[in-house]
Amino acid sequence: MAEQNGFALAKVRKSYPTRSGEVVALDGIDLVVPRGSFTVLLGPSGCGKSTILRLLADLEEPTAGTVTVHDETPAAIRRAHRTGLALQDPSLLPWRSVRDNIRLPGQVMGRPIPNERIDELLSLIGLEDFAKARPGELSGGMRQRVAIARAIAIRPEILLLDEPFGALDEITRQYMNEELQSLWASTGATALLVTHSISEAAFLADRVVVMSPRPGRIVGEVAIDFARPRTRSLLTEPAFHAVCDRLSAMLHAGGEPAMADA
Ligand SMILES: Nc1ncnc2c1ncn2[C@@H]1O[C@H](COP(=O)(O)OP(=O)(O)O)[C@@H](O)[C@H]1O
Ligand SMILES: [Mg+2]
Repeated sequence: MAEQNGFALAKVRKSYPTRSGEVVALDGIDLVVPRGSFTVLLGPSGCGKSTILRLLADLEEPTAGTVTVHDETPAAIRRAHRTGLALQDPSLLPWRSVRDNIRLPGQVMGRPIPNERIDELLSLIGLEDFAKARPGELSGGMRQRVAIARAIAIRPEILLLDEPFGALDEITRQYMNEELQSLWASTGATALLVTHSISEAAFLADRVVVMSPRPGRIVGEVAIDFARPRTRSLLTEPAFHAVCDRLSAMLHAGGEPAMADA
């Protein structure tokens, strides 16, 4: 049986009119990934990673070309609340408890999430004892875990994550990568994660899509077939280093980064 499409972008261009002329954020983007796969977009700041994620989330529309998600328009998927989204800034509601933050998307959808499901999520992210805490009482890593639990609480078919771990130290980040892998495995969602960390990309992805700036374009795709679940011992294996070296070479061949704007 042929694999079903997860995300499909065809001849996508996205440009923004600005006072100093047209900024071409993306040009000539062609990308198809299978349903249920984990894709990582890797590239320097300004290469259009977030723009691709926003197109898939229906937060933007392409200037030209087509975007489909599970063979439907991003708008149809968004209206049906089939996407879980977590951004760099976890943007939790400070006056709501951890439990009530995770509950929120279900309330917005008018489909309340059962308490047992929230308990299960709290234990998955290791925050059973913090259900009643407010976001201000948590560390950055804990807040990110809540944001990811909130994104998957509705059992999304699609999971879109924009540098969710950018602000974390290396140790916490590796821990979160392992957590994310098991959360994703428990949902079967088609996932897309944006990062500029080579090792995060190699650790998490089924496929890494390497991008370069001015204009944002895809310079290569690398399939990563390490067995799952992947554990931190993978990080010391020569095969892992070989993949990282290959990704690094692709990134550097792609050209100089745009002026930092991350
Ligand atoms: N609303 C906007 N108006 C003008 N330019 C934008 C806008 N959003 C993004 N851009 C430009 O598009 C390019 C890609 O941005 P972005 O997708 O955020 O890159 P990345 O996530 O890879 O850092 C950058 O040059 C950025 O400045
Ligand atoms: Mg970005």
